[in-house]
Amino acid sequence: MTTSACGCGGLHTDPRLPELEAVLSEFKGNRGALIQVLHKVQSIFGYLSDEVQERVAEALDVPLSEVYGVATFYSLFSLKPQGQYKIGVCLGTACYVRGAQQVLNEIEKQLGIKLNDTSDDGKFTLEVTRCIGACGLAPVMTINEDVYGRVEVGTIAEILKKY
Ligand code: FES
Repeated sequence: MTTSACGCGGLHTDPRLPELEAVLSEFKGNRGALIQVLHKVQSIFGYLSDEVQERVAEALDVPLSEVYGVATFYSLFSLKPQGQYKIGVCLGTACYVRGAQQVLNEIEKQLGIKLNDTSDDGKFTLEVTRCIGACGLAPVMTINEDVYGRVEVGTIAEILKKY
């Protein structure tokens, strides 16, 4: 999470502010560029905070509700800071029939978070993925670039411990 020098957690002293302003001035008033702008802004901050969404709405002259609607509709956008490690549990058909839901439930339980949440220590973000083409190893989970196959509920603690 970003903290500013004054301690208010606001954007006005965030070192990335000039980058944000550059994007917003490039697309000022350009309502049709909303998705493109959100994409660029997310790449600056890693996620779309409430304050950032307000700035985008203001600059592009679109209602905040529309910005929020787009940000929540597309899974590529995140409204929360992302963890250092992104866990992806494949819920494709092959993984699903081989127990991916139980794997997901167990990770939620062990980390004390729900799907699309980030653990309090900022370490893990839990997401669902579609088939990653490793169906022969179902059920499959990924942690950043690492792929784990034939995951069993009993081995999850051991896997998580590595990170
Ligand atoms: S369904 Fe999970 S890897 Fe294909």
